[in-house]
Amino acid sequence: MGRHDWAHVLDSVPTGLYIDGQWGGASGGGRIEVADPATGEPLGEVADARPEDAVSALDAAVGAAGEWAATPPRERAEVLRRGYQAMTDNAEELALLTTLEMGKTLTESRAEVAYAAEFLRWFGEEAVRIGGDWSRSPSGAGRMLTMRQPVGPCLLITPWNFPLAMGTRKIGPAIAAGCTMVVKPAKLTPLSMLRLTGLLAEAGLPPGVLNVVTSGSAAAVTEPLMADPRLRKVSFTGSTPVGRTLMERAAPNLLRLSMELGGNAPFLVFDDADLDLAVAGAVTAKMRNNGESCVAANRFLVAESVAAEFSARLADRMGRMRVGHGAEADTEVGPLIDADARDKVTELVADATDRGANVRTGGSAPSGKGWFYSPTVLTEVAPESRILREEVFGPVAPITTFDSEREALELANGTEYGLVGYVFTRELNRALRVGEALETGMVGLNTGLVSNPAAPFGGIKASGFGREGGAEGIQEYLATKYIAVATG
Ligand code: SIN
Repeated sequence: MGRHDWAHVLDSVPTGLYIDGQWGGASGGGRIEVADPATGEPLGEVADARPEDAVSALDAAVGAAGEWAATPPRERAEVLRRGYQAMTDNAEELALLTTLEMGKTLTESRAEVAYAAEFLRWFGEEAVRIGGDWSRSPSGAGRMLTMRQPVGPCLLITPWNFPLAMGTRKIGPAIAAGCTMVVKPAKLTPLSMLRLTGLLAEAGLPPGVLNVVTSGSAAAVTEPLMADPRLRKVSFTGSTPVGRTLMERAAPNLLRLSMELGGNAPFLVFDDADLDLAVAGAVTAKMRNNGESCVAANRFLVAESVAAEFSARLADRMGRMRVGHGAEADTEVGPLIDADARDKVTELVADATDRGANVRTGGSAPSGKGWFYSPTVLTEVAPESRILREEVFGPVAPITTFDSEREALELANGTEYGLVGYVFTRELNRALRVGEALETGMVGLNTGLVSNPAAPFGGIKASGFGREGGAEGIQEYLATKYIAVATG
């Protein structure tokens, strides 16, 4: 298996910058190599934008902003609907590209393409429902008119773990709201975004609305654009430390921000849980996307009385998962994204075992090429272990126990993060009580999957702010204007 097997798909990807409806135009910079994390072999190269390329992209976004904001919502919706259709029609090709550059299995990539396309359809439907209000002032002496207007040119910074879905989750509402944008895809996974860009152009997106700059240096794009007063908003998905840096950079120009940052999701299994459901939910919440997701279950907190059975069943299920190249038909777990990611997982497991954790399955990286790590279950994990405090971003499930609901909540909330929590119980009152008490933006009740384009995705505390998807998602790209009307 090698490049020749999928050359036709790789060759279909435009590899230049996309600025003002033109491919390749402004790129005088170098090239960035994109590699297959399963083999380390190169897949191709894309343009490495310089700061002046980023500014050209913003020039294009600013130039297109007025006309795009004035484009009838129905026309914007139709572009998104055609984009959804184009993604669906080209789903296999997009899925293979995603697998090649990111490593996840084809099954996962197909699910991501469907998830990503759905953001375009969802926000196409929202584009025609941007409302406003007309009301009488309390004194009766005047009227109050409110309307929603596009915030203006946006910088959308997307991560490598869901290169398509995290793109459309930002691009979809921005297009729907009437904003223009510069997208900076992650340097490790630019290919699927570049292919998507081509599809959106074919779907009728006018030049300048969407501009894409690939770059090996995030700062080469973010610094000049965030210092430019014409930029009005930044939406970022990535780590909490980078989010903090971007917030500092956003302060001088008071940029609108949406920050979808790190997580440390607790997965709570109570003594009355349906264990079949809890184990299945644990596999989904832990192993979706090879564990490389900010909503991945990071800490398994299990009632003492069911912990032995839950741990044995989870270890058995995860220990049987087939690790391999994501493009091979029977692979269930692909490689991690790069050497750093695998080193971090290796360090976290070593720290936990040094402090006395038991390895129930896995616990090492298989030998050979690629950044693989075996699905791992750890029990008796000491509370001070790093793995309980840091985002694992890999296929490792650390299990600890609790004796009471109160202790479970204290452990679950004892983190600076607050993205998602999972709760498995058969008791409705407990489900609602714990669901309300969890300090997170999202909760999965008896399910290991919360992500849904129709739902508001986002966190609190160090997991960030702003919501993507749902009815809320488009509001991130709209500003409310109020007009006071004298009625005499
Ligand atoms: C993420 O990992 O950043 C998002 C995952 C999702 O949308 O499910």
